[in-house]
Amino acid sequence: MTKQIEHNQLRKAIPQSIRWLTAMCMMVTLSACAQEGKVESELKIHRLESESTSPYDAFAYLNRVPDLNEGEDPRSYAGTVLLSRLANEEGRILIKIVDGFDRSAYYGYKSFMRYWPEEKLGIGACVTCHHPPNFADAGDKKYIVDSSGKAKAVPELRNTKRSKKELKAIIRKKIELAEMARAGKADNIDESYKLMKLSESDVDGIANFIRSMISTPKEGYRDLILSATILDTTDVYN
Ligand code: HEC
Repeated sequence: MTKQIEHNQLRKAIPQSIRWLTAMCMMVTLSACAQEGKVESELKIHRLESESTSPYDAFAYLNRVPDLNEGEDPRSYAGTVLLSRLANEEGRILIKIVDGFDRSAYYGYKSFMRYWPEEKLGIGACVTCHHPPNFADAGDKKYIVDSSGKAKAVPELRNTKRSKKELKAIIRKKIELAEMARAGKADNIDESYKLMKLSESDVDGIANFIRSMISTPKEGYRDLILSATILDTTDVYN
């Protein structure tokens, strides 16, 4: 009993102190960045100085989600990000989210990246064709993804012009086609569609994740990072 209380108190205390620590660290980092700003803008090495200023980029920066290296297999990249990087932070209640990249976008992002079977959670396998950083195909490969049988280029999902409603309709259509492909009713469709196992409850989060990649004005990006809060994911596994 006492152990339980101690545990609860600890859990309550951790997010608050970590939030404070995060804010302090960010302030130190930001002031260091301001001094090095000139070098950074010349070399374009730092995400704070890059053109990618969306809530997703703030999330990736704060959680140290690595970039996809040239030539790296996007699926093994996704495995590393989810199973090593994020699972480890989730375990220590250290996942940081920001305005515009909320809990729903976080789970949508994970479904987007997840491709391996035997998961109870949504499997999008989207990363197979939509590779970071722009979530298009990095090698300009074309895929057959509908009944036309024509291979098509993978459009970038970053800075989408699609409304949330349109995105949800596109995702629902993909789920339908994936089910047809698995049932052997859409033979031409790319094999990776057979991995996709999503339900209606995954659609909103994936659409929110895609919309979180819309860039914010550069001036607001630092505030976005400073708005970070801790996401407690422990309830999901209880
Ligand atoms: C086999 C490769 C492949 C996989 C897997 C895949 N896509 Fe696509 N996606 C494409 C191609 C190709 C298009 C372009 C289709 C067209 O032009 O008709 C596309 C188009 C889209 C679009 C429309 C973009 C626009 O603005 O026109 C969205 C949104 C999208 N995909 C999201 C997803 C999501 C979410 C997943 C995972 C659930 C996913 N895709 C899985 C290849 C893929």
